[in-house]
Amino acid sequence: MIEFKNATKKYGDRLVLDNLSLTIEGGSWTWLTGASGAGKTTLIHALIGAIRISDGQIFVDGYNLTRFDGKALQEYRRKIGIVFQDYKLLPNKTVYENVAFAMEVCGYSDRQIAERVPQLLAVVGLADARHHFPHMLSGGEKQRTAIARALIHEPRLIIADEPTGNLDPDTAEGIVKLFQKLHTEGATVIFATHNTHLIDNFKKRRIHIEAGRVLET
Ligand SMILES: Nc1ncnc2c1ncn2[C@@H]1O[C@H](COP(=O)(O)OP(=O)(O)OP(=O)(O)O)[C@@H](O)[C@H]1O
Ligand SMILES: [Mg+2]
Repeated sequence: MIEFKNATKKYGDRLVLDNLSLTIEGGSWTWLTGASGAGKTTLIHALIGAIRISDGQIFVDGYNLTRFDGKALQEYRRKIGIVFQDYKLLPNKTVYENVAFAMEVCGYSDRQIAERVPQLLAVVGLADARHHFPHMLSGGEKQRTAIARALIHEPRLIIADEPTGNLDPDTAEGIVKLFQKLHTEGATVIFATHNTHLIDNFKKRRIHIEAGRVLET
């Protein structure tokens, strides 16, 4: 379960999150919407421990994100899967190596990597593209590589910040389907998007941020 308690984030005089309180249940799906600059990425960054809020508290499954030291943060990050709009792939590594490298950095053994990477690439439908470099991939394939990488720790919580923002409508649908599959298997999903079409096709809770506050639909 995720809990924001009076979370406030200021950048200088700019109040981006204004005393925001909200609860997200484990196993749920939440769309996160709001105009450009509304604070979606700020909320997500706070939730993944990339920034600290100015006031209030955020709890995720017993972790207090407002009181983090480096070690607790590292442990927490291994429980969540994060996907961004711009993929963040390493250009000099193949699809396989991008996922393998993320596991290597996290201390997995060669044997674990050799076993797990092909499984993950099969999940996202990229087994055949495993030796391709990012510049050879379509946007959807790049994003699926990034999703495979986000799944290395089998996260129960998946946080995606406009993962379909650079993709055409059909490819975007495919990415949502992939997230839906993970959600069906039990993952909590938080999905920020501007795409109302995606939201209309999968009716779930929608948290809309406006002027630093949360409006629900
Ligand atoms: N590091 C920063 N320093 C100062 N202001 C910032 C910083 N990061 C974000 N902001 C400001 O906070 C506000 C919210 O930005 P944020 O990136 O969270 O919006 P967003 O809802 O994700 O928008 P988009 O849909 O364009 O991605 C914006 O006004 C932005 O300029
Ligand atoms: Mg954003």
